[in-house]
Amino acid sequence: MIDFSSHLIRFCSFVDEFCSKNPEDQENIDLKKNHSLRVYQEAKHLTACLDAPERYIQLSRLTALYHDIGRFPQYFQYGSFNDKITVNHGLMGYKTLKNNSFLSGISAKERKTVLFGVLNHNRAKIPKALPESNLFVLEVVRDSDKLDIMNVLLAYFEDEANSNSVVTLGLDSHPDKYSQKVVDSLLSGKLVDYQDLVWINDFKLMLLSWVHDFNFSHTQSQVINRGYMERVLSLLPGTADIRDVKDRIYSCMYINQSPTA
Ligand SMILES: [Fe+2]
Repeated sequence: MIDFSSHLIRFCSFVDEFCSKNPEDQENIDLKKNHSLRVYQEAKHLTACLDAPERYIQLSRLTALYHDIGRFPQYFQYGSFNDKITVNHGLMGYKTLKNNSFLSGISAKERKTVLFGVLNHNRAKIPKALPESNLFVLEVVRDSDKLDIMNVLLAYFEDEANSNSVVTLGLDSHPDKYSQKVVDSLLSGKLVDYQDLVWINDFKLMLLSWVHDFNFSHTQSQVINRGYMERVLSLLPGTADIRDVKDRIYSCMYINQSPTA
């Protein structure tokens, strides 16, 4: 069994190395620290109801805890979480884990599985034909990550007083504007790519497009039960495009929903 309490301590002391006297920087570091801890909790809840080998479950929880470890050196070096203009934080996380002793307590094979999960957690799509353990870890981490990102961004967008461009990746703010390319990709059943985001409303549309990318019915149920999709939709302008998006999202959510989820 993996000793998660010692990993939690190790993770938190690593993050402490990046603490800043500047309150804005500290807020951004705390944001990713708390996100990582919550993604670990989401992974715990998700895997508790899955029928999978115990070792896969343990490795997926460990990967969830470390999935964004690259965010801290990324922010330290560039003052931004925007991969497009800085570095791929999955790759930075992979290097960070390799260069430190975080994973010294598990076998070389298991280490590879965790490293692979961290490296690939933020890819647009899961690579094809993966070994079973790699696939399971990636699926758990990606679903857990999405659940918490939705939660964080909704809380942020719902409070109009918030204005942290690090959270919104420096995207342009306008109550009614969005990119047609983003709407079109959502309506054709595709995931919206981070690279295509221009407006903050595009970011909200990207969250909606995740309905096409959940790996487990548990995640789908959580999104429905927590009202995430309705809350995102209520933050978008009432145009014909957005009404089409709403129809598409609702039909996907309820068609995909398994009766036993
Ligand atoms: Fe990430």
